[in-house]
Amino acid sequence: MELTTQRWELTGGFGIENLRWVEASLPPPAADEVVIELEAMSLNYRDLLMVEGRYNPRQPLPLVPGSDGAGRIVAAGRDVTTPRIGDRVVPLFAQHWLQGDPSAEVYASTLGGPLDGTFARHVRLKASGVVVVPERYEVLSLATLPCAGVTAWNALFGLGDLQRGQDLLVLGTGGVALFALQFAVRRGARVLITSSDDAKLERAMSLGATAGLNYREVSEWGRSVRQLTGGRGVDQVVELGGAQTLAQSLAAVRPGGTVSLIGNLGGNEARLSVIPILMRQIRVQGVMVGSRRTLEAMVEDLSDPGLGPVTPVLDRTFPLTELPQALRYLQSGRHFGKICLEA
Ligand SMILES: NC(=O)c1ccc[n+]([C@@H]2O[C@H](COP(=O)([O-])OP(=O)(O)OC[C@H]3O[C@@H](n4cnc5c(N)ncnc54)[C@H](OP(=O)(O)O)[C@@H]3O)[C@@H](O)[C@H]2O)c1
Repeated sequence: MELTTQRWELTGGFGIENLRWVEASLPPPAADEVVIELEAMSLNYRDLLMVEGRYNPRQPLPLVPGSDGAGRIVAAGRDVTTPRIGDRVVPLFAQHWLQGDPSAEVYASTLGGPLDGTFARHVRLKASGVVVVPERYEVLSLATLPCAGVTAWNALFGLGDLQRGQDLLVLGTGGVALFALQFAVRRGARVLITSSDDAKLERAMSLGATAGLNYREVSEWGRSVRQLTGGRGVDQVVELGGAQTLAQSLAAVRPGGTVSLIGNLGGNEARLSVIPILMRQIRVQGVMVGSRRTLEAMVEDLSDPGLGPVTPVLDRTFPLTELPQALRYLQSGRHFGKICLEA
């Protein structure tokens, strides 16, 4: 039976002002599909870039934005054995990425561009693109896991190999950054963190960071990080600034250490000397969220009673119908952790 739903559509052009809350009909699921009634979503920086036309200026419109979320299965096609109706689930960010390295097909299957995303009351997806998650998490927290949570976990423990007692540097206090901080502290690593704001640094220390640096006040923070580690440098950097910060991250990491290149908050292009990378044998590891297998490994890891729970840091929640206000709040950079939407 066809379902009437509501969703945000970016239509007529890029820009927050071109978002429209529309009524739409959702055809019944095909044999291998399910319908999720979304209860919560979280905002990712990518969603803002997508709406502004800066992520992919050639993205065809209309588009339903939104990279992640959480909800319950309300309909399933005849061949679907799992998930079942009533299960609490999250969608994979890259719908066709089950395991291994990403491919062209994987890039073409990401939610919120090029595929329609999650800023909607319902989504219809392949059953293989949906993962059942534990009920003990509140739904807003679950909605933060498929994109920011998986990215941070993949950088540290999937593609990376962060060990107890090692030093990690995390840039900023946004969604990915605070997941990386919490995951690393939970595993007994020491975490240094940068921020533009001293009050945010204090909050990061209360989450277990051992030192904080205000990057507005200390422009050569790479050297300061090395000093804070007794001159050695950190074992790994969660690099979120991109072009603006990479040179300082390279200065902060130890010889043989890893820079996990995840974000581009400070732009995509910069003049950069490759000398530190080759002379100091630094690994620069790109990270693109993660596969189904990575998401499942993270969920399993979070359920490890020996390591204690992780409570995602939720800054503010808006009703789904207030997406434009939520995106403008993200744009302001005032948040600490995740901004969520509630359906
Ligand atoms: N490759 C991937 O798979 C992947 C996945 C998720 C996200 N990302 C990328 O990772 C980045 C962070 O995403 P997010 O969703 O976590 O963002 P977010 O929650 O909006 O975090 C933004 C925060 O980062 C800090 N920041 C802003 N500009 C900065 C700069 N130039 N240098 C250092 N820190 C800066 C600020 O924190 P303070 O106020 O504390 O300074 C800001 O509040 C984005 O570029 C996003 O596109 C990539």
